Amino acid sequence: MLHCSPFVSPTVGSARVCRIGLLAVASSSILQRRGFRSLAAAAASLEAEVEEDFTPQSGEKKRLPHTPVLVRQFLEHFEGRSVKTFLDCTVGAGGHAFEIIQAHPELETFVGMDVDPCALKLARQRLSDLSGSMAKVDLFHANFKNMKKDLKERNPELLERGFDGILLDLGLSSMQVDAPERGFSYYLDGPLDMRMDSSVSLFLHRDRDLTGTCLQDVLGLTAEAICNNWSAAEIGRILREYGEEMRWKFLASRIVDARLNGGIKTTKDLASVVGGRFTSGRFKRARHPAARTFQALRIAVNDELKSLRSAIGHASSCLAPGGRLAVISFHSLEDRIVKYQFKELSLVFDKADLAFMLLTTSPITADAAEIEKNSRCRSAKMRVIQRLCQ
Ligand SMILES: C[S@@+](CC[C@H](N)C(=O)[O-])C[C@H]1O[C@@H](n2cnc3c(N)ncnc32)[C@H](O)[C@@H]1O
Repeated sequence: MLHCSPFVSPTVGSARVCRIGLLAVASSSILQRRGFRSLAAAAASLEAEVEEDFTPQSGEKKRLPHTPVLVRQFLEHFEGRSVKTFLDCTVGAGGHAFEIIQAHPELETFVGMDVDPCALKLARQRLSDLSGSMAKVDLFHANFKNMKKDLKERNPELLERGFDGILLDLGLSSMQVDAPERGFSYYLDGPLDMRMDSSVSLFLHRDRDLTGTCLQDVLGLTAEAICNNWSAAEIGRILREYGEEMRWKFLASRIVDARLNGGIKTTKDLASVVGGRFTSGRFKRARHPAARTFQALRIAVNDELKSLRSAIGHASSCLAPGGRLAVISFHSLEDRIVKYQFKELSLVFDKADLAFMLLTTSPITADAAEIEKNSRCRSAKMRVIQRLCQ
């Protein structure tokens, strides 16, 4: 079943519920009338806070479910350029989308996709707050690894024209990490799922191409299925390759041995099997001992690296002459792929109509002020490439 998380995280949510309870008992105006000045002030500030969080029309004031990273640097790469068509391959909660549409009133068509149907719901909500833009906005559910096929089906003329800007902001959004039922967090207990696309059936189905020819049998994979069914050698391989985990052999055999005790069912089970205590709050460590295992499983479940390679190839060929492709990555495996594929693209000169120029020799990272406000941007790296006008 599809489950979309609310805007407020569970811990913040419960604190809020208690505080909203206080408001229900005594609103600021009643307290003021009865002479409880300091309580009245506290209630007034709570009222304002609740208003800010839950009022649908409060626009900029609304607490965002995900804080977009490197926004200033991203916008700078399109500043002064005519951006008539833009493709956001990871629209998420619509943070970058909102900013680029606002910064470019000349935008005619904005296309946004995301593999997570819950994210699309939030993006729709976020982009409905836009005013002053005439852009036609088309948001749809898709995996970016198939972007060309999907774009061809939806809007072949647009694909033919190409995009003046494309963004791939990789990884997870805060709402995915903070939703225990998605199984991405080692701090929150939940089922060991980790599918970015929670609408994928867990039953075996046939993957068909446009002509209806069967390509392969596909099973919606979960992290639980990997932990409880894959061989120690295969689990070891993903821990080593996708998690860059030094203890891969030891941890793989611990995961397999756990099957003798009923297997690993939840994020909490996995976090304790791979050696970390399941800690939260003030006992949180800088890097949880299960972090690399969780990263490896997430990459395997969603086939992230293969999808990224294919997405960069597709996206670069969807650019209009002079168009720019920005990719934001969050760990070294992703950044390495972006770096080498961009380098390769910029070195190929034989195809006269598809030549590229690298705009970032080293990756752009967040400054101290942004890291202070949003610790999740610490590992963000952005690289940008431009299709040359021939
Ligand atoms: C870091 S978030 C993007 C946040 C967004 N830029 C914003 O400002 O709200 C990454 C998003 O990429 C999506 N995603 C990850 N892999 C994907 C894929 N293969 N195809 C499409 N979307 C994907 C995730 O579901 C998630 O919503």
